[in-house]
Amino acid sequence: MSEIVIRDLRPADVEEIARMAAAAWAPIHAHYRQVLGDELFAALHPAGAPEEKAAQVRDACQPGSGMQVLIAEDNGRIVGFVTFRADRASRVGEIGNNAVHPDCQGRGVAGRMYQEVFRRLKEMGIRFVRVKTGADPAHAPARRAYEKAGFTIQVPTVEYYRDLEVP
Ligand SMILES: CC(C)(COP(=O)(O)OP(=O)(O)OC[C@H]1O[C@@H](n2cnc3c(N)ncnc32)[C@H](O)[C@@H]1OP(=O)(O)O)[C@@H](O)C(=O)NCCC(=O)NCCS
Repeated sequence: MSEIVIRDLRPADVEEIARMAAAAWAPIHAHYRQVLGDELFAALHPAGAPEEKAAQVRDACQPGSGMQVLIAEDNGRIVGFVTFRADRASRVGEIGNNAVHPDCQGRGVAGRMYQEVFRRLKEMGIRFVRVKTGADPAHAPARRAYEKAGFTIQVPTVEYYRDLEVP
């Protein structure tokens, strides 16, 4: 019987969640490469998309990054992470990079993590929470998980590119 526990980040977790992020984003990166084309995708990710995602997660874990990080554990195994921050002046919080291990998705782990983020934000006096995600098919699980967690107010945005070497 699995029991999900949400806890604070420990320094020893950092490399594991950086690897998890790279793995969890693989379908999203594959979709973006297909949509953008190889050249534009490579131009946008000069260090490699998985490496850049892992680096973002490592950065969020640094003391002084302004982000907080929570870990989801299933019987002692790390199965997810979520980064978030709070702006006490505006009372708006934000969820940043978050992922669930590809083997453990679709079981409500993300929902458990978001609920703990909400609890902590409320304790800090935060009223609203923002999360940004893609409107593309590869982000459908993320949109569904956010909507299930009560993110019902939305502002869709579009990212355009133009190839200047194409007349
Ligand atoms: C987003 C993510 C963290 C959600 O984690 P999770 O623990 O699987 O989330 P939940 O189980 O709480 O909910 C996922 C929901 O998406 C649904 N879903 C899965 N694949 C889907 C798809 N292709 N289309 C639509 N919904 C989908 C699941 O069925 C589930 O909804 P349900 O409970 O109504 O059936 C996880 O999918 C992930 O790591 N994705 C890659 C990284 C990512 O996108 N991070 C967020 C970036 S903004």
